[in-house]
This record gives sequence, structure tokens and C-alpha cells, in this order.
Amino acid sequence: MGPGLILSGMTEQSDLFPASGPKGSALVATKIKALREQLNRWAHEYYVQDTPSVPDAEYDRAFQQLQALEGAYPDLVTPDSPTQRVLGAVLDGLTPVRHRVPMLSIRTETDTEASGAQAFDARVRRELKLPPDAPPVEYVAEPKFDGLAMSLRYEGGRLVQAATRGDGEVGEDVTHNVRTIRQIPLSLPAGVPPVLEVRGEVYMRRADFDALNDRQREKGDKTFVNPRNAAAGAVRQLDSGITAQRPLSFFAYGLGEVTPAAEGGPDFGTHFGMLQQLKEWGFPVAAQVQIAQGASELIAFHQRVGAERDALPYDIDGVVYKVNSLALQRQLGFVTREPRWAVAHKYPAQEMVTRVEGIDVQVGRTGKLTPVARLAPVFVGGVTVTNATLHNLFELRRKKVRVGDQVIVRRAGDVIPEVVGVVPAGAGLAVLAGSDALVDAASSADGTAPAQPLAGPRQPYVPNFRMPRQCPICGSAVVREPGEVNHRCSGGLFCPAQRKQAVLHFAQRRAMDIEGLGEKLVDQLVEGHVIRTLPDLYRLGLSSLAQLDRMAEKSAQNVLDALDKSKRTTLARFLFGLGIRHVGEATAKDLARHFGQLDAIMDAGVEQLLQVNDVGPVVAEAIHTFFAQPHNREVVEQLRACGVTWDESEPAAAATLPLAGMTVVLTGTLPTLGRDAAKDLLESAGAKVAGSVSKKTHYVVAGADAGSKLAKAQELGIPVLDEDGLHALLRGTPPNAGGA
Ligand code: IVH
Repeated sequence: MGPGLILSGMTEQSDLFPASGPKGSALVATKIKALREQLNRWAHEYYVQDTPSVPDAEYDRAFQQLQALEGAYPDLVTPDSPTQRVLGAVLDGLTPVRHRVPMLSIRTETDTEASGAQAFDARVRRELKLPPDAPPVEYVAEPKFDGLAMSLRYEGGRLVQAATRGDGEVGEDVTHNVRTIRQIPLSLPAGVPPVLEVRGEVYMRRADFDALNDRQREKGDKTFVNPRNAAAGAVRQLDSGITAQRPLSFFAYGLGEVTPAAEGGPDFGTHFGMLQQLKEWGFPVAAQVQIAQGASELIAFHQRVGAERDALPYDIDGVVYKVNSLALQRQLGFVTREPRWAVAHKYPAQEMVTRVEGIDVQVGRTGKLTPVARLAPVFVGGVTVTNATLHNLFELRRKKVRVGDQVIVRRAGDVIPEVVGVVPAGAGLAVLAGSDALVDAASSADGTAPAQPLAGPRQPYVPNFRMPRQCPICGSAVVREPGEVNHRCSGGLFCPAQRKQAVLHFAQRRAMDIEGLGEKLVDQLVEGHVIRTLPDLYRLGLSSLAQLDRMAEKSAQNVLDALDKSKRTTLARFLFGLGIRHVGEATAKDLARHFGQLDAIMDAGVEQLLQVNDVGPVVAEAIHTFFAQPHNREVVEQLRACGVTWDESEPAAAATLPLAGMTVVLTGTLPTLGRDAAKDLLESAGAKVAGSVSKKTHYVVAGADAGSKLAKAQELGIPVLDEDGLHALLRGTPPNAGGA
């Protein structure tokens, strides 16, 4: 539970309230102010900086205290109090808001090549009448966030209005919903201009979007097309209670009205300086934002951010270049509704329209049957896509996808491409439940003409898709458990699809780490019936391997050596490698730490399994069921008989491990230890390895090229260790900090 998840709840009030009367209420006001400041600070650390400094329970306690005080002194409730973030009021409709400074759009360079940046730079230089030998113009390069534009109006440092862009002149008042966005400060520190409009993008992080759609899917509800649509829908709710359940985020990138423009207020000489100031006032500003000198650095930025695009936690649809000097921006001015000092440079669209050529069924490692659309090849999110998931039968039916249909395909980040919806036959552009994603998807890069001819009438007599009753791979019965949306093959290890995936899962680096046992080899081994079960791997001989395609004796020997080496492993890796449903790497580690010995896990009842950190009923049931199958126990016994071993330990009460309760952050490249190895060592000693540095971090282990995490550690005075220091820590000798 994060800060602010509390919706209601009162604590015991008696000890909270000072004597009544004017003196008492002044005391209460002071207490309320202190609580609000503290809660805002914690929420900022949690939501904006990703480095919470207090446990959630601490936050919740302060929150409830504030709520109780405000409950007793309703006069002291202000709209910017943290308690007012979650509102449930249902409104009649959204009220129009006239923007005092219009919300402009920016020109888009349709050119995806370097020439886009060059053309912009050349235009700027021409407009500024710079001679050819003048130094490069200084720009700021930013990601172009794929969300919706928002104007946040602060008066006297308090958020008084949030409005969508609308047509640029008139937007909609969505203040009640924007108040639920934790990254948006409700009040600002002293010293901000009396009127300050901050502009930026409200968006939904990919992980939040995926989780939201997973929840929708589980409930059998309609899923959202993409994070932008989900965000836009959430912001425009009449009931802010619904908005609050759809986690939104925010990035600031500009200003609207600011008074007084000059006197007393901060002097924003540059766009970059202004962003830094916004950051100091508590607004999230994207870490990628940077200064760039001239066209060449803009091009480099476009390429670098393009390469990082898939790995970003949120969707971007391009980058934006802005002239840094505000004086030069004023000099450049506007053409119609677009500033001459900014331009957007797009990346390939993440949604496109294409035709469904067929619907296949894929069988996964766990036996799950997934309907997959075979598509006319289409370029989406930077790659050519020919298959896209339809998730499950129910989703396919809800979306009414049939062979021959034109569909929208989305591919963003590293996730599997998916079919998000059908383009209704003959419907032209602007349909699909008012989705503007469709308009984008169906448009070419410049947003005008359709990228592909759109759907004609749906072909008559296309039969509806049906789930096969038999597994398309092994012929075993297909089953669906009550209450489950997924169909599964009941064949288990008998099913080659599950066998192949099971072997690949077992062999992967984070499990048994069998080098050289890749997809091509596993395909041959399973399809050629060379192996049927996991233990067969360890019975492979040189001759049977060397016969296979593209397998010389030398490479066959390498595989045998890798197999041999993999036998010496850890209980956690072994458990993870077995591919038990719901048992990922983290759960496997928790199980190994808790029980210490495999037999104890195999014989554990559901109740005992529930004692393990982070193991809930579903996971406990899955583990129990797995080891209740005689053929699974047999696999384990045979693997042990083949010589797979690990150190068994006493069931570790986690607290007895030497580094129990310690949080360590790894950064940079260590001279000899790989990142995973360092993580393994630390975790097996009981430490928690965290991704970011906070006040709660005990040590930072830094290697070469350590970046912001090292700086953060130094800033917070957290001991920094090098690789030797890490070993010393693991041995229990207090290491000498400061070695990196
Ligand atoms: S600046 C006067 N910066 O792109 C310039 N816009 O047409 C105003 N957007 O709908 C916009 N990321 O919501 C700017 N870093 C960024 C942006 C950005 C996304 C959106 C914005 C607007 C559209 C511009």
C-alpha cells in the first residue's frame, strides 16, 4: 500500500486534540500544517523521486491523524490538503475553461531522418538572421510524452484549476480529477509567483496500464486501447473516485500565464532554467531532458532516446526540440497556432492498422492456449510485426475479431504486440468508441491519409473463432477451470510445446544457466524425441548431440560441459527452473530461504507454504499441486539422481542471516563479479537488493561508470563499497566505506 491509498478511516481522537478555545485551535492549525507538510514531502519522495523515506504505515498514521483533526475542525480543511485528494463527488458535466494563454500545439517534422532536426535548425537560424559562422543555437531536447496536455493553475501557491487543452482556447475543467494525481503538488513552496500556470502531460506508465488492463481482463471488462486513452478517459471522468483507481502520472514541460511576469518573480532566462525551477518546486521533469548545441546534438538526442524508447517506463511518440533562450523564443514568435521556436520529431507509431489473415492458437510453457492473430506484415513501434496476441477467448469475443478484419495492432516497449480492436467495416476513420488512437493508427506519419486502405465490408460467412477441444500440439484435452478465463492443455510434460518451453525455462541464465542450450537446439532435441523430460538433458551423450544439425563435435562437447557445470546450482535456481506456475525468481528465492531444503518444500502443506514471505493462497496452491503430482516428484528425483546438487541449509528464519534487514544498491560495473552474481551473493546473505538509493539504503556497491546512484549515495552520506568491500561485507567484517 502506498501513501494515499487510504480512502477513509479515523483514529482514536481523544489524545489528539488540545484544549478547545482560540489558543487550542491555533495549536491545531500548527499541527495540521506540520502534518500536511510532512505528508506532502513523503508523497513527493514516494511518487516523484521513487525513494520513500518512511514505511507506508507511518504515512498512513500521519494521514489518519490529519483526517481526524480536520474532522474535528472542519473550518481548517483546505482544498489543497492531502486528505482532499480522493474525492468521490459525481458532477453533472465538465465545465469549459478559457485558457488565459492559449495552449498551442507544435509543428511536427514528418521526416524521421536526421534532416528533421537539420531543417528545424536551419529555419531557426534563418529567422534569427544568424550568419553562417555564428555558433550553434542552444536547444533543449525533451521526450514527447504520449498522454494529454494539462494546464495547472496555481494562485497564491495553491492548485485552483486544472484544465485539458481542448481546442487550445477553451478546455475542460478537470480539477477534481487532477487532484487525485499524486505527482501533482496541491500547494507550492513560498516564493512562487502569485499566479503560475504549469503545463505538462498527464500520462499513464506502461506498468500501470498493463496492470489496469489485467484487472479489467480478470473482471471480464473492456480493456483500454493504450496508456494515452486510458489516461484521457481517467482524466475526463465525472466521478473522481474512478480517476483515483487509474494511476496517472505527470511531467511538466512549460508555462502558461505567470504574474507578475517580471518583478519579484523568478527570472527564467532559459527554458532549461525554468524546468529546473519547476523541479525544485516539486513538479516531475523527465530525466532525459537535456541541453543540445546545434542540429548535430539534436540528431544524437533523437537517436539515443529512440534506442532507449522500448525500455522507458512510459510511451513517447517522439522528441521535442525547443530553443533554450526565452529571449530568442520571444524574438521567433509564432506562426498561426504554432511557435517557431519548437518542433516535434516523431518516432514510428506504436499502433497501426493491418489485416487479420488467420487466427492460430499457441500453447505456452504452462499449457495456456493463447489465440494469436496472424497479420499482414506491418511496421509498428519500430519493428515489423506479423503476429499479435488476442489474450484469451473471451477477449477475442469481446473485441469481435474475425479473419479478414482490419485491426489495430499495438506494440510498445518489450511487450508482445497485441490486437487492441477492430476497425469497423466501412467505418472510415473516426470510430471505435471515439478512440483517437484509431485516428492515429489509421493515419500515416503526418496524420493525414490512412497508412493502408481501410476496411471494406467484412467478408460474409467468416466462421467465428472457436477454441480447439484438443491441444493443437499434443492432442490432449483442453480444459478451462471454473472462474478462469484461460484455456489450458492438460498434457503437462507430455505436450511437446510445454516440454520445449519447460526445457528453455529450465536452461535459462537465471535458472540452471545451461549455456548454449538455446531455442534451435531445444527444438531439435524435443521434436526429434531425443529428450522427453528434464532429466533426459543430463543423459545426453556426445554422439546423439553431434548428430544434430549444425552441431560439430566441439560444440556438442561445449553443451555437455555446460550441462555438467549447471549441475552445481542453488535451491532457488533449481526451484525457479522447475517452472511451477506462479513461482518466479523472487518466490523461488523466498521459498529457498524459508525452508532451506527441497524435501521440506515438496512435503509442505498449503498452510505451511502460506507462512512464506509474499506467498498467497494462489501461489501456495500451485506449489502444493505441483508437488502432489507423482510425475513431477519423479522428475525431481531423477534430476537429483543425475547429480544436480545444491547446498541445503537449516530452515532460515530470515532474521538469522548475516545481512538480514539490510538494503544494498548495486551500480556501475564491478571488476570481476557480474551484476546477477553480486545480487545472488547479497540475497543469499539475507540482504535486499534495491533499485534506487534512499535514506533507507545501508550500502551502495559501486563499480566503474557508476552514475546518479553513486552521486545520490554521496549526497545522503551512505557508505559506498567497491568489490573488495562487498566481499568484506559478505564475510561479516565491517568494510571500509568509500572505496569506489
Ligand atoms: S511543448 C508551445 N513539450 O505534444 C509548445 N509538448 O502539439 C507547447 N507534448 O499536445 C507544447 N511532450 O501535450 C511540449 N515535451 C513536450 C511534450 C509536448 C508531449 C504534447 C503536448 C501537445 C503536443 C504538442
